[in-house]
Amino acid sequence: MAVVYSVTNQKGGVGKTTTCLCLGSALAEQGYRILLVDFDPQAGLTVSLGNEPESFSKTIYDSLIDCEQNPLKDVIVDTKVKNLFLAPSNLDLAGAEGELIGEIGWDRNLKDALGEIKNNFDFVFIDCPPSLGVLTTNALICADTAIIPVQTEYLALRGLKQLSDIIVKVRKKGNPELRKRILRTMHNTRTLHSREVVEELEKIFPDEVFKTIIKRTVKFADATLAGMPIIQYASTSEASEAYRNLAREVIEDAAKTISKR
Ligand SMILES: Nc1ncnc2c1ncn2[C@@H]1O[C@H](COP(=O)(O)OP(=O)(O)OP(=O)(O)O)[C@@H](O)[C@H]1O
Ligand SMILES: [Mg+2]
Repeated sequence: MAVVYSVTNQKGGVGKTTTCLCLGSALAEQGYRILLVDFDPQAGLTVSLGNEPESFSKTIYDSLIDCEQNPLKDVIVDTKVKNLFLAPSNLDLAGAEGELIGEIGWDRNLKDALGEIKNNFDFVFIDCPPSLGVLTTNALICADTAIIPVQTEYLALRGLKQLSDIIVKVRKKGNPELRKRILRTMHNTRTLHSREVVEELEKIFPDEVFKTIIKRTVKFADATLAGMPIIQYASTSEASEAYRNLAREVIEDAAKTISKR
């Protein structure tokens, strides 16, 4: 059964979508079967894989609202990358917040939707929106581990306390085994300040920080323009190698989750 990761940070533009795409492709390349769930109404992940979000008749929104009527297996599509599958999103998902709140068990709908389909994959990555509402809570309730991308800048640390508090709440209220891992992204090796934040994060989260650090590079923007994950677009680049290293760490992390089941 798949190990489920939510890629979560309420701060925008920290590399959540890029991490889902690149980590997913790095694992797919090794033969693992990967499901990417685009859980952001802005549909950045769906677009990055070369799709027009409004072209889908069914999206993750439909499964989230009623997974008996719209099972996730009917929503999932292939991608250009072998072993990599996508549950697409579009703007419909923006309405889910209002529709689910107040319903009984509103925070478990994604978990229900993932249900049996987890048996068909090795890893699931959920690309969260940059907010801490209904969608992010649904993702945290069904995740084994939350990956939190953090830019190595001072202000990036500020939202982490709030996010950590939510993770503690989710553990208390319904997902006691939820783990969290910190991923340092968009690192600028040239500034002293960035290097200080790298060390600071290691001090605050010694057991939770991934060793791999993703550096800042324009290659990501180039890959997005080409509609391909960087792993394919610039396979031998430093950025691709970094995500392959991260994939190795995630495989180790997943083994811990599996050993506890
Ligand atoms: N390591 C990096 N170096 C340089 N640019 C990057 C890096 N990682 C991601 N980017 C670029 O930064 C922008 C934001 O990244 P991304 O969309 O992954 O963030 P996000 O957290 O998903 O944003 P949002 O919160 O809006 O969904 C994108 O244009 C992406 O190509
Ligand atoms: Mg995003």
